[in-house]
Amino acid sequence: MIILILVFTLLNECLGQIVDIGYVWEVKCPPGCSCEVQKLADLPLHRWIKTSQDQNLTNDANYELGLNTDHSIIPEFLNVAICVIAEDYEELLDKLPSDIQVFTILESGIGDYEILLQSTTFQRFTDLISLDIQGIDYESVKRNSDIAQRKQGGIILSVDSLYPLGLNLLYLNLERVRLTSLSPTRKNKANLVIKPMNTVADDGNSNKQLLNNITQSTGHRLIFLSQQNNGQSDDKEILPYDVYKQEMEGYRETVGLFTGLGALTHLRVYDCDLKDISWHMFDGLNNLIQLSLEKNSLKFIPEFCFYGTPNLKVLSLASNQLLTLKSVDLAGLLMLEDLDLRGNNLTFLSELSFPPFPMLKTADFQENPLDSIFPSTFEIMNTTLKLYLGGEGSKLYLQKNSFLGLCRLQTLHLYNLEIPVLERFVFQGMPELLKLRARGNISSIDFDAFVDLIKLVDLDLSYCHIRKISMDAFYGLENVKRIDLSNNELEFIPPGLFGVQQQTQLKEIILSKNKLTSLPTDFFKMLRIPNKLSKFSIVRLDSNPWDCTCSMITWNPHLVNRLRETAPRCTTPKKLRNWGVFHALRKGLQCKTLKRKYLNKSTMERNNYEENIIS
Ligand SMILES: *[C@@H]1O[C@H](CO)[C@@H](O)[C@H](O)[C@H]1NC(C)=O
Ligand SMILES: *[C@@H]1O[C@H](CO)[C@@H](O)[C@H](O)[C@H]1NC(C)=O
Ligand SMILES: *[C@@H]1O[C@H](CO)[C@@H](O)[C@H](O)[C@H]1NC(C)=O
Ligand SMILES: *[C@@H]1O[C@H](CO)[C@@H](O)[C@H](O)[C@H]1NC(C)=O
Ligand SMILES: *[C@@H]1O[C@H](CO)[C@@H](O)[C@H](O)[C@H]1NC(C)=O
Ligand SMILES: *[C@@H]1O[C@H](CO)[C@@H](O)[C@H](O)[C@H]1NC(C)=O
Repeated sequence: MIILILVFTLLNECLGQIVDIGYVWEVKCPPGCSCEVQKLADLPLHRWIKTSQDQNLTNDANYELGLNTDHSIIPEFLNVAICVIAEDYEELLDKLPSDIQVFTILESGIGDYEILLQSTTFQRFTDLISLDIQGIDYESVKRNSDIAQRKQGGIILSVDSLYPLGLNLLYLNLERVRLTSLSPTRKNKANLVIKPMNTVADDGNSNKQLLNNITQSTGHRLIFLSQQNNGQSDDKEILPYDVYKQEMEGYRETVGLFTGLGALTHLRVYDCDLKDISWHMFDGLNNLIQLSLEKNSLKFIPEFCFYGTPNLKVLSLASNQLLTLKSVDLAGLLMLEDLDLRGNNLTFLSELSFPPFPMLKTADFQENPLDSIFPSTFEIMNTTLKLYLGGEGSKLYLQKNSFLGLCRLQTLHLYNLEIPVLERFVFQGMPELLKLRARGNISSIDFDAFVDLIKLVDLDLSYCHIRKISMDAFYGLENVKRIDLSNNELEFIPPGLFGVQQQTQLKEIILSKNKLTSLPTDFFKMLRIPNKLSKFSIVRLDSNPWDCTCSMITWNPHLVNRLRETAPRCTTPKKLRNWGVFHALRKGLQCKTLKRKYLNKSTMERNNYEENIIS
């Protein structure tokens, strides 16, 4: 009940505040609620609305996933109410002023009664722009109280409950709320429907024009409904949409909770134990930009499920149990920019997994037990900028040409990658890639492994169990600035692996936490820039079992991080154990007599030597 007390304290604080923003909302707020005036930008909508943190990447002014702060129908000041509801919820809600625009309902969590919200509950609140209903999070409460399981009760939304809000509601967030009768009972009534194209509101947006151009050429779309055919798949009927619509009218009541929410732009159904979704559920949500069905129990997506939301830009199906995807499942999302499928049970992806996504920027498949990415899987993602694959669950295996067609990809993250020898064919097909991060088990890196990534700037291969690298592994990386090989199992660095003649932009090499005992003699020489116009900046060599010998006089202390934590230290010989390498060179090793001999051997010129020895 600590939470409850906290909530009440918060409410009281809010109530006690007098905010003078030049607008007064004369209102009698019932106890248990707080009522105040706020600006849209100050609302905690950011908590569940995905704003694109990486807008810089795209340089695309149209890539606005966030709040429609310039939404013409949203007034500057909003009447905001927050209520904690318990058993007497009906009485409480009756006392609220009806001109609320932003309404948050929190379940109090005392007792195990049902809180049934119906159309009669909301019919007074037709001004609502945002509605946020949150049931008690028993999982997080469980830890510090004796409530063991979700009992009976909780908040229940009847299927007609939201219908009165259709005209104005833009933001709807439901967390841990029971939804009733989401899917139509007569699923097999019509299997195929010809639906006329949605004409997208023309707001001068070039993307939308493009979409119109694409869609106008087809005019009608064929829609396949419900896949739960009871052996009747042979007599699928093709119906014109009008006829279909009429048939549906008959049982509209059971069709969908969201039916009629034509203005809605952001919808989130989080942790509501949703098991089944259908095309009907989202039909008519023409203005929906963001849809999140995160943390439910979906095992599959019915075909063409999102055809009713043609303007969707962000779709999250994260943390469900999706087992497979077919291209028809997500078909029709021609405006989609952000697809989040993290934390599902997808085991493979192939070129049959996805429909075309002409606007997709980000695709996230982390934490799926993917064990095969078939060739050309992502060819339809030729506008995608960021792709994330792999996760704890199982190892990620790539095949030849797995990434073919990702011709605009800029960022690729691979987790739990299992590939004994990283060869050239793996990363073919991504000429625009700027950042590659891999984690997993790459025992060996072959020559020219990255040669096709001509624009790569940041190569992060830490925590990859790398044991062996070909001396030409980084050949062709003319734009690379940073190469991170830390936390691997490297015992030696082949001579010529790094060199500013080749990797002309190279600024940073990270070799921390490997098993290196020495560096090739010309390691630092290869990093010297002849014209000095640009400057190589740093090599990190700490946490390696360095064997300190006079051969280290070729090390350039200016280029090595020597701060306490990150300074390279000797492991052998024993008497120099834990000495800083440069300290050992000056004080621990008698290199004076050896220098000349050594220099002759390495045929270094005298001036080089002097440059290197300054410290
Ligand atoms: C985006 O650009 C702004 C300034 O233009 C900068 O302050 C911000 O850090 C950048 N964000 C990212 C994620 O790069
Ligand atoms: C859409 O088509 C019209 C003519 O039909 C053309 O003027 C316009 O440039 C096209 N828009 C895009 C984005 O291709
Ligand atoms: C999906 O994966 C989770 C976690 O790995 C597992 O508990 C669950 O049983 C899987 N569900 C199905 C339907 O395979
Ligand atoms: C992406 O692929 C589609 C279909 O192959 C093609 O029509 C489109 O022009 C391609 N777009 C880019 C940016 O290459
Ligand atoms: C990494 O892969 C190699 C074979 O390529 C295997 O012998 C080794 O056990 C793997 N290591 C881990 C940590 O999975
Ligand atoms: C090193 O080279 C110098 C001349 O460059 C020569 O006098 C000297 O004998 C050489 N020392 C050894 C150990 O080879």
